[in-house]
Amino acid sequence: MDIGIDKIGVYVPKNYIDIVELAKARDVDPNKFTIGIGQDKQAVPQPYEDVVTMAANSADSILTTEDKKALGLLIVGTESSIDESKSSAAFLMDLLDLPEDIRSFEIKQACYGATAGLQTAVDFVSQNPDKKALVIASDIARYGIKTPGEVTQGAGSVAMIVSQNPRVLKLTRKSVYMTRNVGDFWRPTFSKTAFARGKFSNEVYVDFFNTLWKKYQDKYSATIDDFSTLLFHIPYTKMGTKALRTLEGKISDVKYAKLTEHYQASIKFSREVGNLYTGSLYLGLLSYLINAAQANEELLLFSYGSGAVGELYSGEIQAGFDKVIDQSGILEMLDNRQKMSIADYEKMYQVEYQDGTIVDPQAVNSKFYLSEIKENERLYKKLK
Ligand code: HMG
Repeated sequence: MDIGIDKIGVYVPKNYIDIVELAKARDVDPNKFTIGIGQDKQAVPQPYEDVVTMAANSADSILTTEDKKALGLLIVGTESSIDESKSSAAFLMDLLDLPEDIRSFEIKQACYGATAGLQTAVDFVSQNPDKKALVIASDIARYGIKTPGEVTQGAGSVAMIVSQNPRVLKLTRKSVYMTRNVGDFWRPTFSKTAFARGKFSNEVYVDFFNTLWKKYQDKYSATIDDFSTLLFHIPYTKMGTKALRTLEGKISDVKYAKLTEHYQASIKFSREVGNLYTGSLYLGLLSYLINAAQANEELLLFSYGSGAVGELYSGEIQAGFDKVIDQSGILEMLDNRQKMSIADYEKMYQVEYQDGTIVDPQAVNSKFYLSEIKENERLYKKLK
């Protein structure tokens, strides 16, 4: 039975900051941020947006009434959770009008969470072929003002429906994975912002890619010519380039040039949005699907979550994939965002809603939003 991604949608916040303006405000050469890091814009969420509202927005962009009836599993991958007990998946039940007979939960392993969700969903559908699964990656990447990680922040959500006879990407069920206890990046429960050993994290990422690529070749007698495209977890767009570069000289120049060209198509959206943490690989997939992909291409996808878990797996783009993706809606959403000044971004960064906050719906620019904090419980609404 063929199983994989049947639909995919994305939500990004409606505000962004310009990376050249950020560089100037931080007294950094803008080329460091645009070339050295590889970013142009960074999505900035409003205080009434969080992983729940962004997840609802991305899922709402792809779910039909028929999909909802067929759902048996809902997984939200996130490392920006808003509650230590209740999962963000539970909040989505009424926001999205989902039927009750769904197994739902939240999954965390840094940026690997959505891939864990996707592979779990594939197993679920293989056991329940008439059912569908909804996997949502939703995160706010925050390192703090004036930190080295600030330029690698971002926010957004990617939603995917997994089913049999998928219309976007069939997963070939070929996969290798690994886990090591590594201190490259962490966020203790007391902290809103992440801590990172930045340069060390880059090294671990590249090492995981190289180790997994060796494992994949050994396990499946694979060569690079089996794939037309490599997609990477993209915390910032230079990161995937660093991993890809390790293949230079080991594969033909023509193949390396082709993979580099395809990688450039996969990072277009990330350059504009920044790090989605667990959604980053899947924003890259969407970017590639919209900007360059051809039917029947074989993709190799590298998922990495600090801490650290990595997985390298393959998929095949399905004929007619372009008809299932709301290309014009996604491009419009990216184009219609509003730029925010660095001063306003810094001010908003400090805003944190306290118990008793009631949000004025007139000031909201998102279909789903945090409406109130009452008795320390976060309550959500959908704009009428
Ligand atoms: P930094 O110390 O500010 O930057 O930190 P740098 O000095 O290393 O410079 C960055 C690049 O800019 C270098 O290029 C410089 O040469 C270049 P590279 O050697 O890397 O190719 N550069 C210039 N280029 C052009 N013109 C100039 C110029 N000046 C310098 N004038 C760092 C950068 C990424 C470490 C920092 O932003 C950081 O700590 N980010 C957060 C951690 C991170 O993103 N790590 C990625 C791997 S771990 C991961 O992917 C998981 C993650 O998503 C979390 C999760 O799993 O949940 C993060």
